[in-house]
Amino acid sequence: MTQNKTICIFGGSGFLGKNITQELARAGYRIKIATRIPESAYELKTYGTVGQIVACQCNYNDPESIDKIIKGCDGVINLVGILFEKGKNNFKRAHVDIPSLIAQSCVDSDVQKFIHVSALGINSSISKYAKSKLEGEKAIKEIYPNATFLRPSVIFGAGDSFFNMFAKLATFLPALPLIGGGKTKFQPVYVGDIADATIKILARPDDEYEGRTYHLGGPDVVSFKEIYEILLKEINRDRKLVNVPWPIAKLQGAFIGLLPKPPLTLDQVRSLKKDNIVKEGARGFEDLQITPTAMETILPLYLACYKRGGRFCDKKTA
Ligand SMILES: NC(=O)c1ccc[n+]([C@@H]2O[C@H](COP(=O)([O-])OP(=O)(O)OC[C@H]3O[C@@H](n4cnc5c(N)ncnc54)[C@H](OP(=O)(O)O)[C@@H]3O)[C@@H](O)[C@H]2O)c1
Repeated sequence: MTQNKTICIFGGSGFLGKNITQELARAGYRIKIATRIPESAYELKTYGTVGQIVACQCNYNDPESIDKIIKGCDGVINLVGILFEKGKNNFKRAHVDIPSLIAQSCVDSDVQKFIHVSALGINSSISKYAKSKLEGEKAIKEIYPNATFLRPSVIFGAGDSFFNMFAKLATFLPALPLIGGGKTKFQPVYVGDIADATIKILARPDDEYEGRTYHLGGPDVVSFKEIYEILLKEINRDRKLVNVPWPIAKLQGAFIGLLPKPPLTLDQVRSLKKDNIVKEGARGFEDLQITPTAMETILPLYLACYKRGGRFCDKKTA
């Protein structure tokens, strides 16, 4: 797929969507951001030239609304996803029903490329989140067998929720929780590398990447405890790391999960029981000819604001 084509991004107003939009705009694509609230995507227009990026209101209760947005698009990327359920906004709707509607609309409109962003480790995880993501992949494959699936580990980069949340907590909590001893392993992946992967897949003129699943992990495999250590070193703060055994973490998750925007849920505690790393032999960045970026290169660029005294506390950089 060459430049000057139109790509639609569902869920494009979010963290990953913003980064993908930026890269697509640089590469010269026209971009439609399908969103429930167009105002939330207006700032993305500044990534492109006048008229290059448009925000389109999408009513996911009305398949025609999806069809109208997709019509005439050369490629579609689905990023719709949630981390916790609240009322009608449940995992089945966000990860199975909506992606199925989008996939069907792609078939009906003869869209050439469809990329669906799923999540790493969903085959073995017992969390509801992972099970719904897996069910969503299966449903899409039935409808649009040539879709390309991206399964990232936890994503880092300016504006992420994971590293920013723990860095923020470290600014006022005297201790940070090590759920289940903090032994769960992750392979944090840079948001810019995922954006690069989508560009590569869209730009590929043949069907090389179609119908395939790419497991996207960064160059470092780190435990939850090591992530805290890296983070605390980066923001130059000393905090105790307190072991929280699984049964207590589950209780905490159940109670904290009742908050309107919970930082932890019971389902997330369940997902921490399994490592979130790329299995040997799985297709990944190498197959996309992308060298993943290390955390140490990127974290200093956006975590400095959590240092005591802020970004300019370090005399050398002041
Ligand atoms: N961030 C990570 O570390 C990570 C790791 C692995 C996988 N992923 C997956 O990558 C995708 C993008 O993640 P992200 O971090 O960019 O998420 P995000 O910032 O939360 O954005 C997700 C988008 O989904 C849309 N959305 C949420 N609930 C919806 C609903 N009920 N109906 C329709 N749209 C809904 C929202 O778009 P509007 O409000 O504009 O409609 C939102 O902008 C998700 O599928 C996520 O599961 C993320």
